[in-house]
Amino acid sequence: MTTGFTVAQLRAAATDAVRAPSLHNTQPWRFRLRDGGIEVAVDPRRRLPATDPTGWGTRIACGAALFNLRLALAVAATPATVRLRPYPADPDVVARLVPDLPRRPTPTEQSLHAAIDRRFSNRAPFWPDPVPADARWRLGEAARAEQCWLELLIGTSAVNAFAEIARSAHRVLERDPAYVAERTAWIRSEPSPDGVPAAAGGPQSEPQDLLPQRGFGGRNRAPGRDFEPEPLVAVLGSAGNTATDQIMAGQALQRVLLTATDAGLAVSMISQPIEVSGAREALRLSLGRFGTPQMVMRIGYGQPGAATPRRAVDEVLDLPVAAGVNDVGATEVAPPPAR
Ligand SMILES: Cc1cc2nc3c(=O)[nH]c(=O)nc-3n(C[C@H](O)[C@H](O)[C@H](O)COP(=O)(O)O)c2cc1C
Repeated sequence: MTTGFTVAQLRAAATDAVRAPSLHNTQPWRFRLRDGGIEVAVDPRRRLPATDPTGWGTRIACGAALFNLRLALAVAATPATVRLRPYPADPDVVARLVPDLPRRPTPTEQSLHAAIDRRFSNRAPFWPDPVPADARWRLGEAARAEQCWLELLIGTSAVNAFAEIARSAHRVLERDPAYVAERTAWIRSEPSPDGVPAAAGGPQSEPQDLLPQRGFGGRNRAPGRDFEPEPLVAVLGSAGNTATDQIMAGQALQRVLLTATDAGLAVSMISQPIEVSGAREALRLSLGRFGTPQMVMRIGYGQPGAATPRRAVDEVLDLPVAAGVNDVGATEVAPPPAR
């Protein structure tokens, strides 16, 4: 049995980890080997101070990358035991993974792993076909398997109520020049290893749109190519809102996204109502749930599209580093400044 992970295992697993989604495709993560364990850490240089002042989005992205890392290690028959936020003195370390007893990967791990390279944010209109009940059930199970919940909004009035909250959050954000400047700075019209390619940005918004689209410089829409009239909207939530809860929600997000991809479904993310504290609370109250909404998704059958670029894996690896302390902590995250 191995006593620790190797550089080759780290590099192979991190190649899958970087396929995770992140706000504006900032890819705010680093991966390293320390004392035979693989550690996932926030890259502080890739934070978005205006869009993500509390670090919520960074932790969601790092949690999603951590889920890919877990899958990659499991399908390589070198599964890991994970400890979240192992060093209270260094909250930027999101997780530490050490080798677990070797075992064969499960069929679910294999199919989710195979979906990593096929997943992408699909911001275009979806076909009007409904998502079947068995796929909806699988999406809920995916969230539950990572100790989170997924609420599917059923009926026009629930979707309209959500749309109202989302549009109002979108307007609040768009009034902030620093937020707009940050979003604009991450749009890419030329090939780039990070940021959102304008071609992936979805079509330009139009007044009749039900849900707000984050403007990533997409194309004008062909006449009649409206968004689906009854989108399937899903809210992912966690039990609490500590930094640890947010990392768990990031893992659950990625599990839901890969489950959707495996089921042939397309997904786009709508996080404006999560980023504005008043909207997030309104959303929580509208769901009548305990816990905290952490992400909203539009799910359906989409047209084919392409994965967005990532930086080369060697750019996100730190090798090797010295030994450190080992402890557990869960800190309540400060509420975001009122917008
Ligand atoms: C925390 C978080 C929030 C996001 N919010 C939005 C959003 O509001 N609108 C959107 O179109 N995409 C959103 N995304 C998706 C990212 O823009 C996308 O993951 C990134 O550009 C990489 O592209 P990919 O998902 O196709 O790999 C979000 C992603 C994360 C992780």
